[in-house]
Amino acid sequence: MPSPVLTQAWQSLAIHREELGALDVRAWFRDDPERANRHFVSAAGINLDYSKQPVNTDTMALLEALAEAMDVSGWAARMFNGEKINFTEDRAVLHIALRNRRNRPIRVDGADVMPDVNRVLAQMRQFTAAVRDGQWRGHTGETITDVVNIGIGGSDLGPVMACAALKSFGHSRLSSHFVSNIDGTHLAETLAMLDAKRTLFIVCSKTFTTQETLTNARSARRWLIEKLGSDTAVAKHFVAVSTNAKEVAAFGIDTANMFEFWDWVGGRYSLWSAVGLSLAILIGMGQFDQLLDGAFEMDEHFRTAPLAKNLPVILALLGIWQRNFLAAETYAILPYSQALARFPAYLQQLEMESNGKRVDRDGKIVDYATAPIIWGEPGTNGQHAFYQLIHQGTSTVPADFIFALRSECPLGDHQSKLLANCLAQTEALLRGKDEKQVELELRKQGMTQAQIADLVAHRVFPGNRPSSTIMLDRLDPRTLGALIAAYEHKAFVQGIIWNINSFDQWGVELGKQLANRILSEFDDGASSPDHDSSTRWAIELIAPQLNNIARR
Ligand code: F6P
Repeated sequence: MPSPVLTQAWQSLAIHREELGALDVRAWFRDDPERANRHFVSAAGINLDYSKQPVNTDTMALLEALAEAMDVSGWAARMFNGEKINFTEDRAVLHIALRNRRNRPIRVDGADVMPDVNRVLAQMRQFTAAVRDGQWRGHTGETITDVVNIGIGGSDLGPVMACAALKSFGHSRLSSHFVSNIDGTHLAETLAMLDAKRTLFIVCSKTFTTQETLTNARSARRWLIEKLGSDTAVAKHFVAVSTNAKEVAAFGIDTANMFEFWDWVGGRYSLWSAVGLSLAILIGMGQFDQLLDGAFEMDEHFRTAPLAKNLPVILALLGIWQRNFLAAETYAILPYSQALARFPAYLQQLEMESNGKRVDRDGKIVDYATAPIIWGEPGTNGQHAFYQLIHQGTSTVPADFIFALRSECPLGDHQSKLLANCLAQTEALLRGKDEKQVELELRKQGMTQAQIADLVAHRVFPGNRPSSTIMLDRLDPRTLGALIAAYEHKAFVQGIIWNINSFDQWGVELGKQLANRILSEFDDGASSPDHDSSTRWAIELIAPQLNNIARR
């Protein structure tokens, strides 16, 4: 593929950006009463209003031309057909096969993957029903009440986010817990809440070699054996989700209690596989199916809708416009939904691990920006913290505001206040407040001209700050599936336009290697002269203290 910068579409977009000048979206709203309708798209129960973004119909047409020039549709077809588009790892990219609800054959190396997908779904169906019905019992014959997923990254963030999002759809007897951090506090604080007799651990790791997960899993196993007084208890309290049967067996989990997935499922795209087991236990397989159905509906929309009406494509193009033509460094995800509290963290891995790359597919250093920094917190908490910067700071922070119309936990007037705040923020960002308005308000409060002059600049809001609004009727398994799939495809489209491989993550490896080396130096009590003086100084300071603690 050519560099996107060399396409005619990119160059036209650069000229178009110059021609647009000050990007006065407020004025565009005044001039065009139909603006909100014109910049609105809907698919699979997800509604996207992007009229508060600094785009007009010409901008969108040029962005679509860029998507065409970079062959987004061709690459999407390659992904859906099982081609090995993750070429640095020689792997297909087939999270879409996990929710391929019509069972269209998808072949990798000549073999249809669907029988395997369906086999593991059936295994999950049987197991989740047994745990939920109380047929699966612990070593001492008790029913399971607590499920602990031990995993990290893609083996944690999807389930943790989705279990929080769908908690109100969960089984009343069951609680889900997640342990990811190697900091012993995470495991210790979780175990302190649990009764070993009633606890099921899911050790979730694609590779089954991840240091954090295996360390936590070993400590959890020790705790269980100590509490229940027998090694044989492990069989009833530990199951595994992995691609690596050999390591699962070596850990001591019977592979009959292992739920398989495959190398063509990327970690950050794995919620739909057995990695979603903790979620499937919580909400039941029927509702897990609905999650898959919602994602499938979004997949079908993404695969077949024209670019101009394609929701994930539009999300992606708005991001490209902000990042590459308006120089946005960051993009905020602001769910007005406590249930979506972990959605920003989930999207951080999805977008930053996928597209935080600095070389193109040919290994050449790119001369354009790739993924922005993704961040965010649920509203209204953010309003009382970082929104000051979004409204009046020196950086422009484009944001997606996300809400569901109906609350799953209706309580008095909470929902109307929540949604009023959400709409008010997007309106305030657009509208701003000019000097005249500020002066008028301060005069009404009885201030003198001198007082007003001192204050006015501090109280002006520049406005014209960009946002999109994503609306769901309700946040249920189906719409959550569609919402996640929309962002997955957004990341895919952006990766294609940036001409990078969105499906590897070599950037996480160096730190892992160095951590292992430092760990062995801690054990030896000696640091290698090869370290920089700062790291060496820290190793020499820490090692003796760790060794003293170990001796105590
Ligand atoms: O370190 C990054 C990473 O490889 C992620 O891509 C992945 O989701 C996570 O670690 C966990 O990996 P695993 O599922 O193999 O334990």
